[in-house]
Amino acid sequence: MKPIVRMGAPSLFERSSEVSDIDSSEIKQLIEDMLITLQRLGGVGIAAPQIGVNKRVIIFGFDKSERYPNEKPIPHTILINPEYTVLNEEKIAGWEGCLSVPGMRGKVSRYKEIQYCGIDPMGRRIESVAEGFHARVIQHEVDHLNGVLFPLLIEDMHNFGFEDLLWERILSENGGKKI
Ligand code: NI
Repeated sequence: MKPIVRMGAPSLFERSSEVSDIDSSEIKQLIEDMLITLQRLGGVGIAAPQIGVNKRVIIFGFDKSERYPNEKPIPHTILINPEYTVLNEEKIAGWEGCLSVPGMRGKVSRYKEIQYCGIDPMGRRIESVAEGFHARVIQHEVDHLNGVLFPLLIEDMHNFGFEDLLWERILSENGGKKI
């Protein structure tokens, strides 16, 4: 397991570079390290810069999450050079956390419905749609590759704080309301 790079480190605010050598041992090792780190920490997603590698690789998905107990499962997905487009301009406000911002949660607006694509570790192109929390997680992880962390997107800083103090609000709001 790799140590998580936390907010404050300048590398988290940089744009990560495209992967051109999907078959390389370097990328295979990166994906392995990300999988182990995500699993050990119980996150729902991770981006390569969070373990100190500024390359465009993200992993997301879970069956059941203690960090997001109200959310439905998301299929386990590894995406290299991911991209998304917005299918619906509607946004939803919801609570987010991040392994790089430990112990904190904030309310962030995200597009409700997106189409996303990328390359899987076998070199196959993946293209699919996502909505709700699934779409939120993908937007959050792709943001990491562009040097954006969720606290930068919080519109009202009253909606930012320590998760133990916010937990009741987070559970009662159940994924966020429409704005
Ligand atoms: Ni994050």
